[in-house]
Amino acid sequence: MGETMVTTREAEVTANTPQQALSIIRGVIDVVPQAAIVTGSGVSVLQDLVDARTFSFQQIFGIAPTVQGHSGELVIGKLPENEAVTLAVFRGRYHVYEGHDWSVVTLPTRTLIEWGVPELILTNAAGGINPVFDVGDLMVMTGFRDLISEKWRGGLIESLKKFPKECRNELSERIFLAGMRLSKMDKEFRPLKNGIYAGFTGPSYETLAEIDMMRRMGCDAVAMSTVPELLTAAESSLTAAAISIITNVWKEDVVIGGHEEVLEASKAASRRLDKLFRYLLSGRK
Ligand code: HPA
Repeated sequence: MGETMVTTREAEVTANTPQQALSIIRGVIDVVPQAAIVTGSGVSVLQDLVDARTFSFQQIFGIAPTVQGHSGELVIGKLPENEAVTLAVFRGRYHVYEGHDWSVVTLPTRTLIEWGVPELILTNAAGGINPVFDVGDLMVMTGFRDLISEKWRGGLIESLKKFPKECRNELSERIFLAGMRLSKMDKEFRPLKNGIYAGFTGPSYETLAEIDMMRRMGCDAVAMSTVPELLTAAESSLTAAAISIITNVWKEDVVIGGHEEVLEASKAASRRLDKLFRYLLSGRK
């Protein structure tokens, strides 16, 4: 990453537009994927796509991600279980806490909208607020609390025109149903959880007082991403759903081991997430 890393302000200047990113992608691939996936910290899924073409984020967007556990690649290829399905998998994302402008954080989502991709499944590594959650659980988001976006951005009048956004839709219902079927067929597949996600700006993990606040607010999980993508997709024809991998569960006496612990827990739960995606996206019933 070293030599390609640029400072945030330089990044805003060198960032491509969605149109520029797409012209690079279309120079190599002429199909529009049926679905896209964004993988969060340490999440590893769909590593064996057929006829896969890989682009670095630097190459298509003009900016490399700076977070450990994010390889910063877009892989486009066919699903081995059903080669009629082409997927676009973003391995990594840009975050507000990296110092990036909103336009950079939403660049991959805006590129998908411009491309005409119909469905997006976002994933993230998240801390469990709900005490019944276990490390390694997968939580389908039924709603979110936006503690990231600056809602006034664009000015009062523009902001007033915007309506609250939701992330519970036909796609999230299909994900949940696929999880129910899988857990009946496959003993290793833990039933999916569902719940409300709180998106914090970060970059540090939350204080115990903040965790207590979120619990009282009815939140089930917390992390530092996904809200920008959901808000962006909700203003377009792109249907977006999101899944959190619970990498740690906040309890009274918990000591969080930091980003390394999060990466380890993500890896283990990735195997179940991988099964879920193959089952859901191959159209198996
Ligand atoms: N808080 C915020 N982000 C996270 C956490 C957490 O506990 N775990 C993984 N990402």
